[in-house]
Amino acid sequence: MKLAVTGANRGIGLALVKEATQRGCETLACIRSEENTTAVEGLSQVSVALADVRDPIALNNAAQSFGPLDLVVANAGRFIGRWGIEDPAYTPEAFQEVLMTNVAGVFFTARAFLSYLTSPGGKVAVISSFSASNTIKCTGDRYIYRASKAAVTNIATNLAVELAEKGIAVGAYDPGSVQTDMYGKKPGAELSPSEVAKRLMDRFEALSMKNTGVFENYAGRKVPY
Ligand SMILES: NC(=O)c1ccc[n+]([C@@H]2O[C@H](COP(=O)([O-])OP(=O)(O)OC[C@H]3O[C@@H](n4cnc5c(N)ncnc54)[C@H](OP(=O)(O)O)[C@@H]3O)[C@@H](O)[C@H]2O)c1
Repeated sequence: MKLAVTGANRGIGLALVKEATQRGCETLACIRSEENTTAVEGLSQVSVALADVRDPIALNNAAQSFGPLDLVVANAGRFIGRWGIEDPAYTPEAFQEVLMTNVAGVFFTARAFLSYLTSPGGKVAVISSFSASNTIKCTGDRYIYRASKAAVTNIATNLAVELAEKGIAVGAYDPGSVQTDMYGKKPGAELSPSEVAKRLMDRFEALSMKNTGVFENYAGRKVPY
């Protein structure tokens, strides 16, 4: 299998690249800063493209450099503002940064790789979050992040409808609470990136036209949305 992963230099993205290597896949690691490309150095069958997901031209160049592929994983994400409405982290710049990365960035990623995806049979995996859900775990906080994940899950559902005629399946995935820079420094993070990467790769393998539009967690449980 050939796949591309955004945000591939650390956290879940890097673990996905390593898991893909274990499975004998050929992977394009999309990383936004040249100095962070050392994270994937020495991994077999891994090539690197420099791409900030807010930059459609960089993503188009990345997709073109890799050519035909079976799966694109829109993983890159930002988290700013943890607390309630008075948290000073909720600035206009923070809204712009998180929504551009977590929502527009996923849209631009899917669009850039779309014409290179196997058709029929290609797949788009969007890394969302249980925070997207209006029906579970709404604790009155993380305003920008929750809104971004709700929006990107909507994009995944919408894409699944549009890409059905090309035979391209789209899924949105909640990786759970994972020990990464984003969440890992707090005790609530239960899972290691490598454990989650294995489970997510299994979910991506299980994605097909039969379950396109799915929003499920790393263990395959449907996330109410
Ligand atoms: N960790 C969790 O518990 C958890 C739970 C639910 C969902 N998620 C989702 O899982 C995904 C991965 O998160 P993580 O926990 O692995 O976070 P992380 O350790 O903070 O890694 C985030 C990755 O995204 C990249 N990134 C951020 N902004 C980018 C941009 N504009 N363009 C390209 N790359 C960018 C980062 O690159 P730099 O190193 O250059 O910043 C880094 O590689 C995210 O979508 C996140 O929302 C995580």
